[in-house]
Amino acid sequence: MQTITTISELRAILSGWRQAGERIAFAPTMGNLHRGHTTLIDVAKQHADRVVASIFVNPLQFGRGEDFGSYPRTPEADSAALAAHGTDLLFLPAEAEMYPEGREGVTIVDVPGISETLCGESRPGHFRGVATVVAKLFNIVQPGVALFGQKDFQQVAVLRRMVRDLNFPIEIIGVPTVRDSDGLALSSRNGYLTADERKRAPLLYQTLCFVTEKLKAGERDFPAIEIEAAQRLADGGFEPDYVAIRTQDDLTLPAAGERALIVLAAARLGKARLIDNMLINL
Ligand code: PAJ
Repeated sequence: MQTITTISELRAILSGWRQAGERIAFAPTMGNLHRGHTTLIDVAKQHADRVVASIFVNPLQFGRGEDFGSYPRTPEADSAALAAHGTDLLFLPAEAEMYPEGREGVTIVDVPGISETLCGESRPGHFRGVATVVAKLFNIVQPGVALFGQKDFQQVAVLRRMVRDLNFPIEIIGVPTVRDSDGLALSSRNGYLTADERKRAPLLYQTLCFVTEKLKAGERDFPAIEIEAAQRLADGGFEPDYVAIRTQDDLTLPAAGERALIVLAAARLGKARLIDNMLINL
């Protein structure tokens, strides 16, 4: 695996691959990689001749007082994991390579509507930061296909909309959430949990299962189910941001009779803000 830190060198290598007719898959990350990330690489290999990964902790998508400074940075272990899964190239830019004029005043990509609900409400500006850096990375790498995890379901929805609106010729593939054996979705932020919090953390997944069972049993009072689910999280020591039943398609409030539903939740447990979701096809 080659590790490249500059855009010009990356472009030179990738244009060679493209000229040889090779299809390029791309999996952007912020590092501190786990099995969720390496699954993106495994899936990428099924869709392309070459797999490019990036590691960049993007300051633009962190709010004031969020964990940008303390976000875990483990480039050596990450490189080894990416190489072991057959990644061809790791793009590992410094902040000055991505934002040479600084973070302030850069051109931004704003995806309205879908960015404003759920995590967009609890983390104002977050999806603007994500869309901006992913648009830059797409223009730098110019992949044929890009892989994103469905653990961040709203992120995938925002990026699909961006790709449509801005005509990026890139196929977006959503990869199912990879979980620990007790149901907890793998996340770099799980490392913030104390041993006791880690034992309680699967309640988030269990709460999504609880909502799914209620909907499958025919209950349709969505607000009542959401309130009961949030209360379960609070009783288990979480501080819920939201538990929301939405349509899979565009994350709007479901009409009566809607069958392709999703329940999404975000909650703080100690220092960690955990998110998860579950698709419910009735
Ligand atoms: P990061 O949190 O590092 O995640 C990188 C990719 O891995 C995302 O597509 C995310 O959804 C996926 N992922 C994380 N945990 C997963 C799990 N348990 N199962 C499946 N996929 C999982 O998401 C970001 O970085 C950033 O916002 C980024 C897109 C890189 C832009 O900065």
